[in-house]
Amino acid sequence: MAGVKYRGFHPRTELVRWGLPAVAIGIIAGGTIPAAASGLQAAVAANPSSLAWLFERLFGFMSYITVALSVIYGLLLSTKILDAMAHRPVSFTLHQDLAAIGLGMAGIHGMLLGLDASVPFTFAQILVPGQSPHAPFAVGIGQVSLYLMALVTISFYARRRIGQRAWRTLHYVTFLAYAGSTFHGIASGSDSGSIWAQGLYLGSLTVVVFLLVYRIGMSLLERSTTAEPGAVSRTTRATPLTSRPGLRDLA
Ligand code: HEM
Ligand code: HEM
Repeated sequence: MAGVKYRGFHPRTELVRWGLPAVAIGIIAGGTIPAAASGLQAAVAANPSSLAWLFERLFGFMSYITVALSVIYGLLLSTKILDAMAHRPVSFTLHQDLAAIGLGMAGIHGMLLGLDASVPFTFAQILVPGQSPHAPFAVGIGQVSLYLMALVTISFYARRRIGQRAWRTLHYVTFLAYAGSTFHGIASGSDSGSIWAQGLYLGSLTVVVFLLVYRIGMSLLERSTTAEPGAVSRTTRATPLTSRPGLRDLA
């Protein structure tokens, strides 16, 4: 994929590119919001204290979807798959924003446990891994995943001090955080038995594993090309993984 030239989309496709997602969002929102609103109203009327629990789960899923998208976007960046269609600094920003939004929503997801009267959580039980009164191991993995993601995000602002290479190496921790979040959702969630939740976990895992295998294959290929005597390295001809333009431009 090295040397992929940005071509962007043809300007004539603009209406279709914006129109189709708008129609899709309209159909999904129109078809689901009324049912979701009446379901929520019925659940809260039957048990008013369940509101925090409902939102805690909602934020859990929204956070998981955002984090999974950020991981997928990160892999699309490192494999350069998107480079022919999108400017690197734009993809970079989207990846960073998705990561930050996912992290924020995971924080809200955890904090809402403090308002849930059905299984009361103290502040310490929310924050300290393994202290949860419900599924302590699986919730502990979720807590550790959140801290790992926070560490990677904060390290971005300290990369001048720790160095670009160390920052990039630390980024591999995000695969652990993603795997941890997936395990956490499946093992501790009340919705893991439902077909849509299983579809979500399976769909996200399939895309991430596929891109990861592609990414590892690409790295091995680049390394073997570099190892050949007299061969001009593809990574040298392009730019090394640790100092790609996306990072430089925004540094
Ligand atoms: C301030 C926050 C972050 C910034 C600025 C950032 C930036 C980047 C950049 C520039 C790349 C591509 C590097 C390259 O060209 O090879 C990347 C890759 C990646 N990012 Fe992030 N990232 C952030 C946070 C996160 C978080 C929180 C996650 C996960 C939850 C994540 C997951 C990934 C993954 C999985 C990759 C692909 C790694 C690889 O294939 O080596 N990132 N990120
Ligand atoms: C401080 C960190 C965290 C705490 C204390 C925490 C706590 C919990 C608890 C107690 C549950 C079970 C709720 C239930 O279904 O009744 C849960 C489920 C879940 N969590 Fe977390 N979590 C944390 C971090 C995360 C992170 C980082 C993610 C994803 C990025 C996440 C995503 C989910 C998902 C998807 C579920 C499944 C919800 C369901 O099936 O209804 N959590 N979490």
